Amino acid sequence: MIQLSSVVKTYESKAGTIEALRGIDLNVSAGEIYGIIGHSGAGKSTLIRCINMLERPTGGTVLVDGEDMGAMTEAELRKARQKISMIFQHFNLLTSRTVYDNVAFPLEIQGKSPEEIRTIVLPLLDLVGLGDRQDYYPSQLSGGQKQRVGIARALASQPKVLLCDEATSALDPQTTKSILALLRDINSRFNLTIVLITHEMQVIKEICDKVAVIEDGRIVEQGPVLEVFTKPQAKTTQDFISTIINRSLPPEWSETPPSPTPIAGADLLLRLSFIGQAADEPIIAGLIRRFNVDISILYGNIDHIKDTPYGTLLVSLTGDDNNIQEALRHLQERDLGIEVIGYVARRH
Ligand SMILES: Nc1ncnc2c1ncn2[C@@H]1O[C@H](COP(=O)(O)OP(=O)(O)O)[C@@H](O)[C@H]1O
Ligand SMILES: [Mg+2]
Repeated sequence: MIQLSSVVKTYESKAGTIEALRGIDLNVSAGEIYGIIGHSGAGKSTLIRCINMLERPTGGTVLVDGEDMGAMTEAELRKARQKISMIFQHFNLLTSRTVYDNVAFPLEIQGKSPEEIRTIVLPLLDLVGLGDRQDYYPSQLSGGQKQRVGIARALASQPKVLLCDEATSALDPQTTKSILALLRDINSRFNLTIVLITHEMQVIKEICDKVAVIEDGRIVEQGPVLEVFTKPQAKTTQDFISTIINRSLPPEWSETPPSPTPIAGADLLLRLSFIGQAADEPIIAGLIRRFNVDISILYGNIDHIKDTPYGTLLVSLTGDDNNIQEALRHLQERDLGIEVIGYVARRH
């Protein structure tokens, strides 16, 4: 649905040239929820605004639904943008218009009749849970309600793509959850393709199918969320994941870090992560029985990524050196995420 190839964007300013995007390749399939995460200044807003040409890329191509956005005239762009809606961190509502009139606004611009507008707006207000608020003004609404108006307005032109620029960043965690649930609902209801940018890993975890991590104008890692979560490669990705999953070692090992190579008579520290079905299997009990090793769980956590159970365990294996190595080989043959943290002196 969306294809970016070698997209470059530079800004000229008094301070010199700023390379906001340094060659972005991105493919978003129809019906997908694609998250782009990065720190402030990484280029997220620039990237998402290049999709609908609110920013014109300095180089590269942007295809949306097979059409070359960069080659369009302003008139063609206006038409194309009806199929590419956007919602914003600060909602961008018209404060002098009611909820109803905000949602009606894009349809008025399209020249639709009041009757036609009504048949579109009322069901949308019901859909976003504001059926009883149509005569309110934005100042009379909570942040979450304002974003619901933003979403209804974005849906009014029956878009194929919804771009979300930090759409939940101004909201509290509970409201964020309800807005994300609404985005999921409209994604499946209308098979709407959603691209969202955020600096919060929680948002990615909650609703995204795929994720790209952007740093300094480059995508440093991308893939299905489950894969990126269980096998993060880039340091930035690991840092983002550690904001929602505890990846730190117990304090006694932070001073004398574990050895990466086996040491005779040492314990082996492992981080196991398992997804989906594997989360239900009695892996630990099996290891103890089959390999005659003792296992201590130092840290454990079970969570969900979208709807898939996802668990992490920090464990130490104690026992005969050979048995520990056999247990490790056995684990590595299974479809589990295994990270060998290292070997540490036995503590007893
Ligand atoms: N209109 C602009 N003029 C000059 N520099 C800009 C402009 N917009 C963004 N930038 C710069 O481009 C870089 C990326 O910005 P942005 O895309 O807004 O990042 P993010 O949304 O990830 O915080 C930053 O260094 C920012 O200062
Ligand atoms: Mg931004």
